[in-house]
Amino acid sequence: MTEIKFEATNNKVGCFIYTDLKTVKKEQIDEIKNLLNNYGVLFFKNQNLNPSEYINFSSNFGTPAKYPMLKPHNDYKDIYVIERKKTDTGKSFGEGPHTDSSYLENPPRFTFLQAIEVPDEGKGNTLFYNQFLAYEALPKDMKDKIENLKGIFSSQGKIAQTRELRMVDHGTSGTKEIKSEHKLVQSIEGRKTIYCSPGHVVGIVDLTSEQQELINYLSSHQIKKDFSFSFGWKKGDIALWSNRSMLHAATTFNGDRKMFRITIQ
Ligand SMILES: [Fe+2]
Repeated sequence: MTEIKFEATNNKVGCFIYTDLKTVKKEQIDEIKNLLNNYGVLFFKNQNLNPSEYINFSSNFGTPAKYPMLKPHNDYKDIYVIERKKTDTGKSFGEGPHTDSSYLENPPRFTFLQAIEVPDEGKGNTLFYNQFLAYEALPKDMKDKIENLKGIFSSQGKIAQTRELRMVDHGTSGTKEIKSEHKLVQSIEGRKTIYCSPGHVVGIVDLTSEQQELINYLSSHQIKKDFSFSFGWKKGDIALWSNRSMLHAATTFNGDRKMFRITIQ
């Protein structure tokens, strides 16, 4: 069996994969799934998948999900186009740490992002924050405190404003608030993570006075340097992350960038 060529990022927040996805084998997909469980985010470098091959590869991880806020690609209903033009001003789509669509009852488990067009090197990076590491680093009393708490996640949380620019041209109509409750501590293959999307969490269930204090504490803890990695895109690169074990954030930049996104239920 041909093994996957991989290398962890310097602080083990994620993992680079150098195997060509055009010729990836069934057993290698299992190995990729293990790496995804271990690292939370994978960066597939030097790839050249066309939209059908990209959709095909993503379907190994589950069923493509519908994104309620944007219309899909005209020819490929599983792909959502995230585009920023040189002339765009203001924040990038998805700026501010978050986990995708966590306001839904069943948020997508995984997100894929493929770089179709990228600006100059150093611009348009995506930041990732590993929530396995963030959980492990919490003091014991904080772990105990949040163990059984649930957060209130809203589509109108902080990150909603970064969506507006994208929704002018690609948005769906009818964007009333969507809200869900989720446990703040989740478990993947026995490893615990903090599941608190700073862009969406607006409250904590059954907690009165110290709600905001706790949200603020977690939000700043979750994105500490030790758990974070800034990924610089090259054309063709694909990132795949687990929304239950990673936070991510777009960054502001000036330039043309086009990304194809697929989320997996
Ligand atoms: Fe996102």
